Amino acid sequence: MAKSYNIAVIPGDGTGPEVVAEGLKALAAAARKTGFKHQLAHYDVGGARYLKTGETLPDSVMDELKGMDAIFLGAIGHPEVVPGILERGILLKIRFELDQYVNLRPVILYPGVWTPLRDKGPEDINFVVVRENTEGLYAGSGGFFKKGTPDEIAIQESVNTRKGVERCIRFAFDYCRRQGRRKVTLCHKTNVLNYAGDIWERAFSDVAKQYPDIQMDYAHTDAVCMWMVKNPEWFDVIVTDNLFGDIITDLGAMIQGGMGIAAGGNINPQGVSMFEPIGGSAPKYTGKNIINPLAAIAAAAMLLENLGEEDAGWRVEDAVRKVVAQDLKSLAAGQMGYSTTEVGDLVVKYIDQG
Ligand code: IPM
Ligand code: MN
Repeated sequence: MAKSYNIAVIPGDGTGPEVVAEGLKALAAAARKTGFKHQLAHYDVGGARYLKTGETLPDSVMDELKGMDAIFLGAIGHPEVVPGILERGILLKIRFELDQYVNLRPVILYPGVWTPLRDKGPEDINFVVVRENTEGLYAGSGGFFKKGTPDEIAIQESVNTRKGVERCIRFAFDYCRRQGRRKVTLCHKTNVLNYAGDIWERAFSDVAKQYPDIQMDYAHTDAVCMWMVKNPEWFDVIVTDNLFGDIITDLGAMIQGGMGIAAGGNINPQGVSMFEPIGGSAPKYTGKNIINPLAAIAAAAMLLENLGEEDAGWRVEDAVRKVVAQDLKSLAAGQMGYSTTEVGDLVVKYIDQG
């Protein structure tokens, strides 16, 4: 019998609703094609709701999310809301409470996509970042002392539990093996961060012993930035902490053609995972029908693969590849040669034909 999934949809702010709509079109096309069923539950959370009611993510919504099979998110972030409120109150709250301990971000240059790296092509830019997603400097540990006085001190601590570090590294090795990749690189800053770096390094070499078929490697974060530009072909799977992962995946998004194509998954392998385009709410493009929806559509493909609907996920991804290779002039908002909705229609056309 066809499987059936409950999918929570959080369109969110800015261009979030526009790109999510296209992602859902692709999801529906894949469902028609491969025969799975899905019910959508839309949740109106984000900047607009916060400005109206003062609420970020009500407990009632959080409780419902816990019962879903997956979450599809557009973007969180509003120009009229003080930075941090929506990020902590919605996005990080979901990541933390649902224990989505891996942020999985593929950096793959599809054929036909322009990259700022002049001498590199799809065979060179093909790696995946496994970013720890619930700890590190994002944990919110620390505090002020004498705030607002000339003597004030702010301390922001990086929290690295052995359990948290190890499960993330283990995910990276399992993922590497499952995907037929060959090497896992630990990205950290062990030459300076003598405690956090030490626990990551020890956990990495302990876990690596259980994967003799997979090569292990290490690079400092600053060097990773350099090599992602100069020698991206050196990377296959990169595992790293929360903040380093945040930074290097924006760089990764640029070398794979920009935010228009960059998707990510917030994954709890035993729980509810959430998939999103990583580009943010892009307020200046909102409501113009010019934003590129392919990152959201690629996120929908990741969502399907994560549900176990590999065939459906592969069809959506393949349609994205066809659109960038055959149709779009550019991946940049307003320069695609097509509107947001037309790009979604093209993806649906290729899924239908596939
Ligand atoms: C991301 C974003 C978030 C992060 C922000 C919006 C809190 O930049 O998903 O990479 O830093 O994790
Ligand atoms: Mn980021």
